Amino acid sequence: MTFTLPPTSSNPSFNPSTSPSSDPSPTPERAPRLTVIGTGYLGATHAVSMAFLGYEVLGVDIDPRKIALLNEGTVPFFEPGLPEKLEEALASGRLRFTTDLDEAAEFGDVHFVCVGTPQKLGSEAADLRFVDSAFTELASRITRKVLLVGKSTVPIGTAERLTALVQQISPLGAELEVAWNPEFLREGFAVQDTLHPDRLVFGVSSPWAEDRLRAAFEPILAEGTPLIVTDLATAELVKSAANSFLATKISYINAMSEVCEATGADVTQLAEALGLDDRIGSKFLKPGLGFGGGCLPKDIRSFKHRAEELGIGAAVAFLGEVDAINIRRRLRTVALIRQVVGGDLTGVRVAALGAAFKPDSDDVRDAPALDVARMLYLEGAVVSVYDPEAAVNAHRVYPDLEYASTLDQALADADVTVLLTEWEEFRTADPVEMGARVRSRTVVDTRNALSPDRFRAAGWDYWALGRPHTAPVPVSNRSESVLATLDKSADLPC
Ligand code: UGA
Repeated sequence: MTFTLPPTSSNPSFNPSTSPSSDPSPTPERAPRLTVIGTGYLGATHAVSMAFLGYEVLGVDIDPRKIALLNEGTVPFFEPGLPEKLEEALASGRLRFTTDLDEAAEFGDVHFVCVGTPQKLGSEAADLRFVDSAFTELASRITRKVLLVGKSTVPIGTAERLTALVQQISPLGAELEVAWNPEFLREGFAVQDTLHPDRLVFGVSSPWAEDRLRAAFEPILAEGTPLIVTDLATAELVKSAANSFLATKISYINAMSEVCEATGADVTQLAEALGLDDRIGSKFLKPGLGFGGGCLPKDIRSFKHRAEELGIGAAVAFLGEVDAINIRRRLRTVALIRQVVGGDLTGVRVAALGAAFKPDSDDVRDAPALDVARMLYLEGAVVSVYDPEAAVNAHRVYPDLEYASTLDQALADADVTVLLTEWEEFRTADPVEMGARVRSRTVVDTRNALSPDRFRAAGWDYWALGRPHTAPVPVSNRSESVLATLDKSADLPC
């Protein structure tokens, strides 16, 4: 096969946004065989979704336990809709998982690297060990022209560095190309976001790489999904900039919450009024306990760190403030809980509702909910944590907390009930029934997810940061409790 050195982003003759696109409807023979390196939330979902779309896919991980589970049809984490898609993809015969990189190097025409880029211990920088190792291990095994595609979130400049590295290692030399294809999926909506993304971004160094990616995403592109074809650095930056923007929006409304807390204004009404301006929009403007998870917190830190390395720290210095506002939410939440129980948490029984960093996920990485539970515990409270899916992961991180296996168990004899993750089970729970379990009807709603009116009508003292505190309706006047009694009496035998 002949191949001329691919034009690069530094070569002015190549403009990716205007370069000729590949055949928009490739024949099945043109569809590349795909590997997906790393089978965490991102990689497993990508592998399953691509097989579901009709590609031959080999998923790869160094963890034999995960690979065994996936091969037998079990998703090793909680992600709604993924188990069903995995089952379908395995049944199609198009999807397999392995720990063998030799097999992967032999199999793939396009290799997607989806390994983690966690925060480095003792630094704000991203730890790129896993990405580096995935690229170099693959490169040393590759003997024909294939495309290595990074999907992990990385500091700007990583793809260019990896290109030099893999070209040095690979027997193919400069023929081996790297592309970047950032991923925007949200946990809890991972399947939907992968199969029907808002947009695709291809960071490429040649028309050939663009063509390969177009072939790898043909069914998604055929749906009319907007595509940005760009250089490697811009593709990397899109992801950091997008996550930073989302984090900034959340911290902005939480900063406004602090203003409300000092002035008696109501942050939920403020957010509603701001969100109705369609230039602002209501998404990611939900005030509360703030953001967590394996992405937003470490991504803003790593972006800031990288900007400082590049000598342009001032450009994104505000991300330090975004982070600080976010961390303050956890401290202010603990302060509010301490205040509502009379100033001392010693011996206070707390029902902590939620541990995951957000609902519909079992992910407890940098979870605000667990941090609050842990701080309450350290101040002497007796904390009973209940989360519909994240208890196992939470227990692994904080084994010293008490874990309830049902909502009722967590509520039993609680002096204060704290909603920390807005699972539907909590949002729809009946305040009258909840009130019957606890010792004291005091609720702190850290996610502004409950109805203050319903809780107050059921005799609860309802508290939330950034909202004026109103005394509960006296229990004897509650129409809802009367209704509840009527409902129950209707079930009694005549
Ligand atoms: C985030 C991005 O939304 C995805 O686009 C991106 O692909 C992903 O990171 C990633 O980098 O891989 P995710 O971490 O799944 O996705 O979670 P989000 O839905 O963004 O929520 C992040 C946090 O913000 C949660 O703790 C959530 O409770 C909090 N949040 C969200 C708020 O406090 N207020 C809001 O209005 C929205």
